[in-house]
Amino acid sequence: MKIIVANWKMNPQTIEEARQLASQIERGLLGVDRNKVETIICPPAVFIPAVRHLIDFAKLGAQNVSRESAGAFTGEISARQLAEFGVEYVIVGHSERRRMGGDDKVINRKIKQSLAEKLKPILCVGFGTKKSDSHTQIKNVITRQIKIGLAGAKQSRITIAYEPVWAISQGLGTGKAATPAHAAEIAKFIKLIVNRVLVLYGGSVDGKNAAEFAAEKIIDGALVGGASLVPLEFLKIIRAFANT
Ligand code: PGA
Repeated sequence: MKIIVANWKMNPQTIEEARQLASQIERGLLGVDRNKVETIICPPAVFIPAVRHLIDFAKLGAQNVSRESAGAFTGEISARQLAEFGVEYVIVGHSERRRMGGDDKVINRKIKQSLAEKLKPILCVGFGTKKSDSHTQIKNVITRQIKIGLAGAKQSRITIAYEPVWAISQGLGTGKAATPAHAAEIAKFIKLIVNRVLVLYGGSVDGKNAAEFAAEKIIDGALVGGASLVPLEFLKIIRAFANT
């Protein structure tokens, strides 16, 4: 089973747009073999209540979770609160959040909070604002991110998204995807250091390049930012992975 995650980030701006986006993706999934690909929509937290009632084929995810379980933590949202709204997955350790603070130990606490509420974490790892970073550097950083991030976390299957920072379509990224061969090499490496793991690739995946990533069998899916805001484009990605 392949996994495609829509990370809407801080988009869209209105509840109506969020509803339309979710409904269009959901309608598109009618024509997709859903035994082959699971689609997860991660809207901004405030839109979760609206989006949850519009999706059925797609699963609901959150973009972040608090490291704390409850209490005086202004602005935070707990794993339990997310679970109350039907959230099943949570993105943890996205590079854009890592930049706002939170080291690997904080990410580890978020993973544990998620698992305690039976949410499935999608741990993001990645490195570098330059394409020239060496494979050794990349492997050292993601090994640390994985070892500390998943320390003591017990779950039968974990999902890791490899996202080179430079490959993300906006923000610090260049908008140029990594090569499928590079993504496949890192996926293979991650599978050597973690048991029973699904590895997604993220960073400028779009309707045009999705089939090339899908052709690398070791890659279990994609974490999609920008292109997940354009339903036709996003559905092309889903179909590319469903057709492998
Ligand atoms: P992108 O974002 O697809 O817009 O590059 C991916 C991500 O940051 O999750």
